[in-house]
Amino acid sequence: MSLLKNGILWKDVHGEPIHAHGGYIIFHEGYFYWYGEDRRENYYVSCYRSANLTDWEFRRHVLTTQSRMQGYRVRTTMQLVNEDGNKVNLERPKVLYNQKTGKFVMWVHYENGKNYHDAAVAVATCDTPDGDFVYHGHFNPYGYMSRDCTLFQDDDGTAYFISASRDNADLHMYRLTDDYMNVEKLVHRLWQGEYREAPAVVKIDGKYYMLSSFCTGWAPNQGKYAMADAMEGDWSTLTEIGDETTYQSQPAFIIRWKGRVLYYGDRWGGDGSRYFESGYVVYPLALEGDRLVMEYVDQIEL
Ligand code: DGJ
Repeated sequence: MSLLKNGILWKDVHGEPIHAHGGYIIFHEGYFYWYGEDRRENYYVSCYRSANLTDWEFRRHVLTTQSRMQGYRVRTTMQLVNEDGNKVNLERPKVLYNQKTGKFVMWVHYENGKNYHDAAVAVATCDTPDGDFVYHGHFNPYGYMSRDCTLFQDDDGTAYFISASRDNADLHMYRLTDDYMNVEKLVHRLWQGEYREAPAVVKIDGKYYMLSSFCTGWAPNQGKYAMADAMEGDWSTLTEIGDETTYQSQPAFIIRWKGRVLYYGDRWGGDGSRYFESGYVVYPLALEGDRLVMEYVDQIEL
């Protein structure tokens, strides 16, 4: 039995810290792949692999300042290093496998490394889950600002990109094109003026739930969720979940595994200066009647 202690920086199978903050996990051909932010050296996104969600093997720095770039017709800005020669800022990487193209497609929040004014999203692709991703540049969907973000893939393969817009005041939902390479339609502008960050979506018993945080930098705050019968249907207003700090966490993503719904959050290291010490949490989610609840656990067996 292997217990994961919540709130600390977990180690991989070689005893090295797991650098996969603000991340995302997909399941592909018998393995989970965990993508997340890695701010060391010239790295942007790292990928880890596990068969059991507990023992993680580092696979590769899948996106770095040196990643190969390849233009894509709707994107014009291809910059993995800024004008000053410094790193840009890539946050909250999310990856989906596209059944039709056979590509793994990453969407990630892009900033220029100096400030948060670009508010854009970048796209990268790879033929394998843990190979070198090819960078296709960043853009503002339909010209909108796009900061904290997530992806969600529905059972029929339709995918959605959700991101904070209008200086984080509103949360936008876009349906993606079939190849997941572009947005196809802005389907929602949700919760105007509510300043939601860190969105994460899960489908339970045919209904859709979206968790998010409030906008307080790296400090945790009261999580909230909303519900809808369809991604493109009407979303409810926001209901509180967890305690006033979401049990000291900010949402990263939610997965379903062995009949459980598992919320993964980041416990950021203060204001970002202790970023490398940022820990992870997993809290079970469950429906009580029609209410979604988060269970606080100090440690968890997956
Ligand atoms: C909150 C976001 O959720 C984080 O990913 C990061 O962008 C910080 N803001 C930066 O202050």
